Amino acid sequence: MKGTRAEKDQEAPALSQAELNKKSMQEVRRSLPIFPYREDLLAAIKEHQILVIEGETGSGKTTQIPQYLLEDGYTQGGMKIGCTQPRRVAAMSVAARVAQEMSVKLGNEVGYSIRFEDCTSERTVLKYMTDGMLLREFLTEPDLASYSVVIIDEAHERTLHTDILFGLIKDIARFRPDLKVLVASATLDTERFSCFFDDAPVFRIPGRRFPVDIFYTKAPEADYLEACVVSVLQIHVTQPTGDCLVFLTGQEEIEACCEMLQERCRRLGSKIAELLVLPIYANLPSDMQAKIFNPTPPGARKVVVATNIAETSLTIDGIIYVIDPGFCKQKSYNARTGMESLIVTPCSRASANQRAGRAGRVAAGKCFRLYTAWAFKHEMEETTVPEIQRTNLGNVVLLLKSLGINDLIHFDFMDPPPHETLVLALEQLYALGALNHLGELTKVQSRLSCIVKPLQVGITLFTFYPTVSRYKYLTFLHKNDKNLLSHYPKHFHQRSNTEIHNLIQGNVFHSIAVTAGYFYHTARLSKGGYKTVKHQQTVYVHPNSCLFEEQPRWLIYHELVFTTKEFMRQVGDTVCFRPEFRGLKLTPVHLECTM
Ligand code: CDP
Ligand code: MG
Repeated sequence: MKGTRAEKDQEAPALSQAELNKKSMQEVRRSLPIFPYREDLLAAIKEHQILVIEGETGSGKTTQIPQYLLEDGYTQGGMKIGCTQPRRVAAMSVAARVAQEMSVKLGNEVGYSIRFEDCTSERTVLKYMTDGMLLREFLTEPDLASYSVVIIDEAHERTLHTDILFGLIKDIARFRPDLKVLVASATLDTERFSCFFDDAPVFRIPGRRFPVDIFYTKAPEADYLEACVVSVLQIHVTQPTGDCLVFLTGQEEIEACCEMLQERCRRLGSKIAELLVLPIYANLPSDMQAKIFNPTPPGARKVVVATNIAETSLTIDGIIYVIDPGFCKQKSYNARTGMESLIVTPCSRASANQRAGRAGRVAAGKCFRLYTAWAFKHEMEETTVPEIQRTNLGNVVLLLKSLGINDLIHFDFMDPPPHETLVLALEQLYALGALNHLGELTKVQSRLSCIVKPLQVGITLFTFYPTVSRYKYLTFLHKNDKNLLSHYPKHFHQRSNTEIHNLIQGNVFHSIAVTAGYFYHTARLSKGGYKTVKHQQTVYVHPNSCLFEEQPRWLIYHELVFTTKEFMRQVGDTVCFRPEFRGLKLTPVHLECTM
C-alpha cells in the first residue's frame, strides 16, 4: 500500500510518540495534516453551505474542525457547533480530548451527549454527540435553530442514523441558508456524498501516510484467534519496536485473545520484553478505554486488541503493525420473519484497507492479513452494505412520522431500504396501534417509544422490579401483600403496606403495558421448545438467561437475534398470562400512569 510520505522521512518523523509527549498540545495541533489547510478550509466553508470533507483517519477532522469554526466566530451569540459520531465511545473520548486541548472542563464549552448521558450545559458550544442523539433533537427543534454548523462525521460508516440524518439535514438546509453542513469522511466514496448533496464540493485533506507492506497467508487460517495470538508473539520477538493493533469482531473474542496473550507471556517470563495487552470495544468502561492512548514505556510493546472501532473512529498513535483476520460482526435483517442476525462475516475490502492504513501513521508499517490474497480479491465485498438496508426500521419509521414525514416511500434516502422492510415496519406499527389506517400516528405511539427507549442502549427490560426473585412475587399479588414482602430486599420491609401495594401494582401495570406493546414478540412453549406466536418459528432462550432453567409457558422478548442459534434477547416471563391476572381490571388511567 503506497504512502504519500517516503520511508526516508522517518529520520525526522513529525509525529513520533515520544516527541508528541514532549510537545505542547498546541504544537501537536499545528503538526496535524489538517493544520496547513485551516485557512482554505474556513474559506471553503464560508463560501459553500454544504461541504464534503475527506481526510485520512488521524488527520484532525474530528478534533480540529470544530475548534477552527469556533475560532472563526461560528459560535457567536451562543450558537452551537454539533458534531455527530456513530459510536458513543468516540463521542466521549473526542469531546474529552478537545476539552483538554482548549483547557476547559468537559461539559462546559465542550461537551458530549449520548443516550442517557448528557454531559453538556448552558455554556456548551462545541457539542459532540451520537448520530442518534442529533436525530432526537429534531423532535424538539425541527430546524436545528440553535446550531450554526452541523458536522456529520464518519459519514462513510453509513449507520442507520447517519443515513436518516443525511435526508433530514439536506431538507432543512434548503430553508436555513445560514446553517453550514459538513459531511466528514475517511478517504472512501466521497463522490457519493457530494452527489447526494446536490454536487457539494469535496475538500480533500492530503494524507500523510507512510507506506504499509501487506502480507497475506498462503493458506486460509482455520482458527483466526489462535493465528492472531501467534502473529502478535512472532512480531513481538522478531520485529523492531512499534505497537501492534489487532482487529477482532467483539468483546468475547477480544477478551479471549487478551487472556491467551497474557497467559503465553507469563509462561515465557523474562525471555521476552514486556508486552502490554490492551482491549478496546464499545462496552469497555471508559477508564479502561483511556488506557489505549497512554504512551508505551521504553523497551515495552503495546498491543491493542480492538473491534472495528479502531478502523476509523479512534486514532491510536504509535501503531506500526496491524493484524487483520478479515472479519467483522454484521447485522442483517430478514423482513419476512422479523429476525435480526448478528453474524461474523468477512469484512469488506474497503474495511481491510482502512485497517491496513492504521499501520502507516507514524512510520512505514506492516499489515498482516490472516487470509489469502485470493480471498481478498474474490471473497470480500468491495464495500459494506449500508445499515439501513439490513436492519429493522420500526423505530426510524416512528421517528420520521413524529417529525411529520408521512410519505416514507419518497423520503430522500441516499440508499433506500428494501421495500418489504419498510412495509413490515409500517404493518407492525399499525398492529400495535401506533399508526392508524391512514398511516398517521396515534397517541399510543408516544407511550410505546418510552417503553422501548431504554432497550436501545441495552438496559434490561425485566429488571424494573426491585426484587431478588424477579417474578415470583407477582404471583402472590392478590393473595397477600405481606407474602410479597419476603421477595423484596430488606429496606423495603420498612415501607407501609399501601406503599408496597402501590409499587407492586405499578410494576404489574407496567408489565402489562410492556406485554401489550410486545404482543408481536411472544413465544409459547410447546413440545419442541419455544415457538413464536406470529410465525411459528422455533426460537431459544440463551443458556446465560436466568429463565433458561425455568421454562415458563409464555415469554415475551425484545428481539430475535441469530448468532449460533435463533435466540430471543431480553426475555421476560409475562405476568399477564398468569391465571391470577385474568380477573384484573385495567382502566385506561392505570395504563396512562404506567406507560
Ligand atoms: O478525525 P480524524 O481521524 O481526522 O482525526 P482526529 O480524531 O481529530 O485526531 C487527530 C489527532 O488527535 C490524532 O492523531 C491523535 O494524535 C490526537 N488524538 C488524541 O491524542 N486523543 C484522542 N482521544 C483523539 C485524538
Ligand atoms: Mg474522526
